[in-house]
Amino acid sequence: MDTSQKKKSVGERTMALKAVPFFTQLSDKELDFVRAAATEKTYPKNAVVLTEGETGDSLYMIQSGKVKVFIGDEEGREIILKILGPGAFFGEMSMIDKQPRSASVTTIEQSTFLVLTHVAFERCVEQAPRIAALVMQCLAQRVREADRKIGTLALMDVYGRVASTLLELSVYSDGKLMVGEKLSQQDLANMVGASREMVNRILKDLSDRGFISIESKAITIINRELPPSL
Ligand code: CMP
Repeated sequence: MDTSQKKKSVGERTMALKAVPFFTQLSDKELDFVRAAATEKTYPKNAVVLTEGETGDSLYMIQSGKVKVFIGDEEGREIILKILGPGAFFGEMSMIDKQPRSASVTTIEQSTFLVLTHVAFERCVEQAPRIAALVMQCLAQRVREADRKIGTLALMDVYGRVASTLLELSVYSDGKLMVGEKLSQQDLANMVGASREMVNRILKDLSDRGFISIESKAITIINRELPPSL
């Protein structure tokens, strides 16, 4: 690797770190500690990165690509907890408490991560103690999000869960409110804990009633006031 390539990759890694919520507020010097302690790993599409129940102590920061975080059962059924993209992180729970992985993570696109082991993380916290407070903030946000999800699962019927998940995933693009992920109906079913057939019926109903439009897997929200039930 020549010097300019090396500089570019150092710059890219610093940018990737700045995009991770833990690290956005760190100074360049503090970021240097983290960057030096992290290693880079690339996985192809559909690769298993973490497996629920296995031991592991590394934190993964997504530099590029996308992953799904899910829990499953012996019959192969899965619930997707979250889809994460660049700037997001995962694996922090086992890195902190050294307990088995709480969920599995697989890539849905080729993805590159910066990986920090528990030891490396502790070294970073010694150098920049603020990191510990930032991690706590991020964990609190994740618990809030999980609480909202529990509320949705417990209090809404499938129709409401599909509607709320579509809104949660939607982002403005070219003036249109669109579901940011190109999800299959099975993915959506795995996010709301329902069958694919049920999700298919609900999407068709929402589309027939003019709330959404669907074109080759891309879902556009036409009216944000999605009905919570039939
Ligand atoms: P860890 O338990 O080390 O390994 C699995 C990871 O999945 C976990 O750390 C978190 O980073 C991530 N994870 C677990 N539950 C959720 C959730 N509800 N939302 C987003 N990410 C999660």
